[in-house]
Amino acid sequence: MSRKALIAANWKMYKTPVEANVFVDAFLPLVAGHTRDEIALFPSPVLLPTVIGAAKGSNVAVGCQNIHFAEEGAYTGETSIGQLIAVGGTHTLIGHSERRQYFAETDEIVNKKLHTALKHGVVPIVCIGEVLEEREAGKTASVLKTQVTGAFAGITPEAAAPIVIAYEPVWAIGTGKTATPEIAEDAHKVIRAEVAKLLGADVAAAMRILYGGSVKPDNVTSLMAQPDIDGALVGGASLKPDSFEKIVKY
Ligand code: PGA
Repeated sequence: MSRKALIAANWKMYKTPVEANVFVDAFLPLVAGHTRDEIALFPSPVLLPTVIGAAKGSNVAVGCQNIHFAEEGAYTGETSIGQLIAVGGTHTLIGHSERRQYFAETDEIVNKKLHTALKHGVVPIVCIGEVLEEREAGKTASVLKTQVTGAFAGITPEAAAPIVIAYEPVWAIGTGKTATPEIAEDAHKVIRAEVAKLLGADVAAAMRILYGGSVKPDNVTSLMAQPDIDGALVGGASLKPDSFEKIVKY
């Protein structure tokens, strides 16, 4: 089963509109004609119109770092799926570890957001991963299984095709400590097996599972060489066009 890799940039709370424009103007020529992998940028919501406008007609998709599960309503500070779609966004991250850690997102909230994204045809990237204490306590596999099961509650095999998972061990995010390719591959296998249990072998074999956590130009190749790693979700090293280009072209 061949899965087209997805290389995604999570810009977190960085860049102004001017800086975002400068990035896209420099980045698009660097990856023009690159069709081996899908490329997506995830800027802050306030940057979406700028980045989507600048990337229009290119091979670079743009999405939100977070959406609310409600269609609309009195949810101060949140972004709705309809707002994302209206400005031309096609993807969304869901349940990033920083959302879980600092904004109290639970598997139940992640599940609601996943249903909302699928209902509206937005490609969801569901982020999961264990914290250091869980890894050290030998609980990684059970944490990942719980997160996958929680995120996928009520999702049918028929509806699951657009879903992308990002495995991001929390201890590797922004720390410079990447999981070794073997550690990452082991986790990806656990995740794919769990998806197979829940949604069947065919859905699991087709589902893309990205790795995230200190992905850099010098470690991306060995990570991408693993059979169950189908792309990367990149934070710090996605903020500069030449660095992200090198990762895209692993
Ligand atoms: P990092 O972030 O590449 O800076 O570790 C990854 C992420 O949080 O998605």
